[in-house]
Amino acid sequence: MLILVIGQGAREHAITHTLLLDPNVEVVCAPGNPGISQIARIDVVHINEISSVVDLAKKHKPDLVVIGPEAPLVAGVADELRSAGFTVFGPSKAAAALEGSKAFAKEIMQAAGVPTADSKYCQTIAQARAALELFGAPYVVKDDGLAAGKGVVVTVDFEVAVAHALACIDSRDGGAVVIEEFLDGPEVSLFGVSDGTTIVPLTPAQDFKRVGDNDQGPNTGGMGAYSPLPWAPENFVSDVTRTVLQPVIDEMNRRGTPFVGLLFAGLAITARGVRVIEFNARFGDPETQVVLARLNSSLSELLLAAATGKLASLVELEWKPESAVTVVMAAGGYPESPVAGAVITGVKLAEESGTVVYHAGTKTNDAGELLVTGGRVLSVTALGSDLSVARTQAYSGVERIEFEGEHHRSDIALKAALGEIRLGDQHG
Ligand code: AMP
Ligand code: GLY
Repeated sequence: MLILVIGQGAREHAITHTLLLDPNVEVVCAPGNPGISQIARIDVVHINEISSVVDLAKKHKPDLVVIGPEAPLVAGVADELRSAGFTVFGPSKAAAALEGSKAFAKEIMQAAGVPTADSKYCQTIAQARAALELFGAPYVVKDDGLAAGKGVVVTVDFEVAVAHALACIDSRDGGAVVIEEFLDGPEVSLFGVSDGTTIVPLTPAQDFKRVGDNDQGPNTGGMGAYSPLPWAPENFVSDVTRTVLQPVIDEMNRRGTPFVGLLFAGLAITARGVRVIEFNARFGDPETQVVLARLNSSLSELLLAAATGKLASLVELEWKPESAVTVVMAAGGYPESPVAGAVITGVKLAEESGTVVYHAGTKTNDAGELLVTGGRVLSVTALGSDLSVARTQAYSGVERIEFEGEHHRSDIALKAALGEIRLGDQHG
């Protein structure tokens, strides 16, 4: 089976790596990255240009196309590929609006009876100020459109909240901001794979959004993750599937815009129960690196069954009992102003020490050196008999890799490994 994977991050590297565990699978990845090029064929494509992606598919004639990032999904790449006759894992433009518009996601949740934070959609700064006063501190201010995980500001400073609201409203024509109630409690990322009717939950993971240890500093795309969550409530996955994932799939179906692909629920476990923070319409990064590390079933069969409407007849997924931890190594200046160009050394040593190093912000130069190109540079991933062993292993890989300006969190999975997460805590 030939699979075309669209994307170039650590998520796509992990997806490609896991797909290739099936002996009958071949992968072409576009545009890929230097890590992916070591395990799969690479081709070039502008992933947000619909016609280029369709031309690429016509060239390779894959049995399945897997679209990694949100931008091509929100642009409608999946729709055009389907019209051209391809089998696609990834939602239509209409269904990807669950991620592309926070206001649309709220509307679907309301219609489906899914618990989420109370919120106000504001198109003027006067509306935004009123909403901030209504909900009170801490203030949660979200750009309505796509912002690569960086459009959200959570602050106790009223003026900082107002400034971000203004920036969102002014960012483009029709710019808007969503202001909402603060949700207190540890966060969980739960992915569900759907064929539009059935949704199969994956194993939950926890992401670390803030750039610094102890959740200090600005939000990022995610600085690390681990799975499983020993502290999660009993029946967490089945409860969330029943109260969140399936109702959203049903509501999208009812509207004639079925969601085929990966529905990612970002959840907060609050004192009043589970609340949805956001939906994404694709695999999370870096959560995918740990979720797929624990998958003991065929990923290609799962994604193909979803893309062809056959999930109801798929055998139940199996998960490894081991724990997985991934640590993101970021470029100097990330997230505000990442610096490119530093030479990366030690990746091979880290791999030899038993970690899997997924590439994201890297490229090679003519001299064969590996260079930093972007914010989240590498995801160093390890499995271990428990979280503590997995994190020791992941950090021993991190220690072997060096580049100028490199920074990473040193507390990924730490509280969970120490058994220090109690429900009701503000953050994991
Ligand atoms: P989002 O892009 O919506 O996932 O938001 C990014 C991050 O901001 C989340 O992972 C949370 O850490 C934080 N956040 C978003 N919404 C809320 C909320 N209502 N209450 C508390 N924290 C939030
Ligand atoms: N790690 C969060 C995300 O992928 O949006």
